[in-house]
Amino acid sequence: MIDLTPRRLLLLDHYADGEDARHFTLRIEQPQAADLAATPGQFFMLVLPGYGEAPFTYVSTPDEQGVFSALIRRMGALTTALFALENGAVLGYRGPFGTGWPLFFKAQRVLAVAGGCGLAPLAGVIEAATRQPEPTQISLVYGARHAGTQVLARERNRWQQQMAVIETFDQARAGEREGSPLQHFDELFAAGVPDVLLCCGPEALMLAAAEECLRRGMAAESIWLSVERRMHCGVGLCGHCYVGSSYACVDGPTYRYDQYLKLLAHRPQFSAGVAPLSC
Ligand SMILES: Cc1cc2nc3c(=O)[nH]c(=O)nc-3n(C[C@H](O)[C@H](O)[C@H](O)COP(=O)(O)OP(=O)(O)OC[C@H]3O[C@@H](n4cnc5c(N)ncnc54)[C@H](O)[C@@H]3O)c2cc1C
Ligand code: FES
Repeated sequence: MIDLTPRRLLLLDHYADGEDARHFTLRIEQPQAADLAATPGQFFMLVLPGYGEAPFTYVSTPDEQGVFSALIRRMGALTTALFALENGAVLGYRGPFGTGWPLFFKAQRVLAVAGGCGLAPLAGVIEAATRQPEPTQISLVYGARHAGTQVLARERNRWQQQMAVIETFDQARAGEREGSPLQHFDELFAAGVPDVLLCCGPEALMLAAAEECLRRGMAAESIWLSVERRMHCGVGLCGHCYVGSSYACVDGPTYRYDQYLKLLAHRPQFSAGVAPLSC
């Protein structure tokens, strides 16, 4: 039987990390084996008494004490109430849910493409890749509207010492790179075609990045997207998150590009359709 009962979650710490975004450190009071086995790209439901629950991605997955982190942008009632809480507040937790990024560490060259808050689901996999011994190399191209909207400042500062990071801006200041992440693919592909693309951000960016990688010689089987949908139950019961005939909360949010296109092509009439996140 599926248990939908939330478990106790403590708010340990939070700090501002980008425009209207905060970085939260949380602790599951009694972590279970499934929590410790959570992988980057999976998500959890955060329950705020009086406001309901909402899905968020792990930036770092739970450690043995149940401590993990999440990057959360203020959107509506739940996130506004969350931002007003003090450290020590008691929340609820369900998870981990969904399918995370594939284990790709046999790949030599990994390209990560992120837009806006889409960097959050990629953070765990980037951290893991930077800890891998050679020959795995990961590079990141991260697009944001302007510098104020960038998230995960502390992580990006660290990654800049460890890997190739290109940051692009719709509204660039002097000395910054202007334009979309795609405009910098020549540079990223100069050393050769990556083995794997991992991509998360607005749907239009992900689809364009996937097409550009195909055009430059990558196989559709090597391209992975994190496609978020409206979610309620998180466990394949309510049907709010259909991608074609699949449940994004169970089969996704990470999809292989060729499989994702097939699902979209066979989308039933009642499907909710594409609902890109605004952050
Ligand atoms: C798998 C998954 C992982 C997510 N991870 C993160 C994360 O790491 N960090 C983060 O900040 N946000 C994340 N989100 C989005 C987050 O769940 C919503 O922003 C949150 O539900 C907002 O709750 P709210 O009550 O504050 O706002 P609401 O009042 O629920 O929403 C505010 C606005 O956002 C829109 N909205 C809310 N959820 C979605 C959605 N799924 N798709 C499209 N539009 C939506 C609403 O229509 C409304 O316009 C994730 C969503 C999913 C499905
Ligand atoms: S969120 Fe309920 S089925 Fe996916």
